[in-house]
Amino acid sequence: MTPSLHTVFFSPTGSSRKMAQETARALAQELAQNMALARGNDWNWTFPEGRAAAHTLGPEDVLVFAFPVYAGRIPQVLMEPLARLAGHGARAILLAVYGNRHYDDALLEAVDLFGANGFSVPAAGAFVAEHSMTAKVGAGRPDAEDMAAIADFARNAARIIASGESANVAVPGNRPYKALPPAADIRPQTLDSCTQCGLCASVCPMRVIDADNAAQVAQGCLRCCACVKICPEQAKYFDNPQVDKIVAMLESNCRERREPEVFFAAAGKM
Ligand SMILES: Cc1cc2nc3c(=O)[nH]c(=O)nc-3n(C[C@H](O)[C@H](O)[C@H](O)COP(=O)(O)O)c2cc1C
Ligand code: SF4
Ligand code: SF4
Repeated sequence: MTPSLHTVFFSPTGSSRKMAQETARALAQELAQNMALARGNDWNWTFPEGRAAAHTLGPEDVLVFAFPVYAGRIPQVLMEPLARLAGHGARAILLAVYGNRHYDDALLEAVDLFGANGFSVPAAGAFVAEHSMTAKVGAGRPDAEDMAAIADFARNAARIIASGESANVAVPGNRPYKALPPAADIRPQTLDSCTQCGLCASVCPMRVIDADNAAQVAQGCLRCCACVKICPEQAKYFDNPQVDKIVAMLESNCRERREPEVFFAAAGKM
């Protein structure tokens, strides 16, 4: 079978998906000069059906994995599907997508996890997107500069893959990883202006919004804000002191532009 280039992404508000696909596009273009590699699948883990699948790769395959940083970590909802992803020597290119505060230990956690699952990780990067909880932080990101940096990152990653390098990249972060915040049952509210159009239920990655009554939200909300952002009536919102506190902190401390950071296993060889 021809080796393949696949993507996996979890992306409630779309930024990680966009970055995964641009990485795959530029990676495929560059790798085509050196090796036969078919463009494989885009495995969308945003919804439960996608996260239920198990994927096994082979030693010649390449995988691009992009995820949003939640509380400085990989979203916990990805731990089960990640445990079912078997590398068997495949290369993984990892993108931690964060909302202009910081990615903390998320990239290190991802490199460790993929290494433990049988992948080698020649390149990893942290890229900025608009913060899903407030459009005032990371506004307009990823912009044209970010997308150009992602294409550059992918081309450099392709050169390292083509060189046969099999070492794992070193990335910033600490072990043990940042402690997760205590679980809290926080759900979005719904204004009477809701028209029951069903859009919010269709984008909810946890399927906790009742498709027949959008005001009914079951336990398990991630606070990903996909429903808030998509609602054409601005009828979905969070009314919670914990959320308000985080948004206030972000808006006062995290508006200064942060730039993409990229890491390669063999920087000296490039
Ligand atoms: C629950 C939650 C926690 C988040 N934690 C962080 C964080 O620790 N650091 C940060 O910079 N951004 C954080 N963000 C922002 C997301 O990482 C950012 O908006 C991401 O780009 C969303 O990706 P997506 O568009 O693919 O869903 C958080 C967002 C949510 C919803
Ligand atoms: S997207 Fe907004 S208007 Fe549509 S069902 Fe959801 S809350 Fe109601
Ligand atoms: S209900 Fe929660 S998990 Fe579902 S889309 Fe809204 S914020 Fe995200």
